[in-house]
Amino acid sequence: MILVTGGAGYIGRHLVAELLTTGHKVLVVDDLRSGNRFNTEGVPFFAANVGDATTMREIFSTYRISVVIHLAGSIQVGESMRHPEIYWENNVNAAHRLFDCAREGGVKRVIFSSSAAVYGEPLRTPIPEDHPTKPISPYGETNSLWKTSSGGSLRQPFFGISMPPVRMRHIVPKLT
Ligand SMILES: NC(=O)c1ccc[n+]([C@@H]2O[C@H](COP(=O)([O-])OP(=O)(O)OC[C@H]3O[C@@H](n4cnc5c(N)ncnc54)[C@H](O)[C@@H]3O)[C@@H](O)[C@H]2O)c1
Repeated sequence: MILVTGGAGYIGRHLVAELLTTGHKVLVVDDLRSGNRFNTEGVPFFAANVGDATTMREIFSTYRISVVIHLAGSIQVGESMRHPEIYWENNVNAAHRLFDCAREGGVKRVIFSSSAAVYGEPLRTPIPEDHPTKPISPYGETNSLWKTSSGGSLRQPFFGISMPPVRMRHIVPKLT
């Protein structure tokens, strides 16, 4: 079973539909702070914060989840400049608690949705994978902390879980 966090959001809805079409079993956790609730037959939906460790532990012990696709996050660059604390709490601390619960629950793979904002003002475009990261907003900064090549130390507690960061602009055209 695949857990899609943020599955009620813009990308999450398309991803859930695509996963169902391709025969996967899906579970959604989304606290609806910016997404809209949807009911899809056969898709358990939990209106919960991914940073709520008690709820997440319960979910991981109830369902056999093999993969987590983590889309739940705060995504507004402008808001992140005004309220960086929201971005540190949601994109770093809540994600950290989620990944801890996933690891305890035996999950081996997490796909982390990163962002082109990790590169700041890119030196060249299209941006190659090995381009240095130099975020210029708390949104980009909090995403870059999960990336391997720059400040990837946040991932160290999760050794044993494969966690490739995926920049959504690479896959969204295929989903829409
Ligand atoms: N949309 C884009 O163009 C784009 C580009 C690059 C990266 N991304 C990344 O993809 C991911 C999803 O983006 P989106 O455009 O679908 O955003 P979105 O705001 O539409 O969806 C995010 C969803 O996560 C939920 N959410 C947020 N924090 C949560 C929490 N702590 N617990 C539970 N649910 C929570 C929201 O309610 C929302 O439904 C984000 O991580 C974003 O950084 C998006």
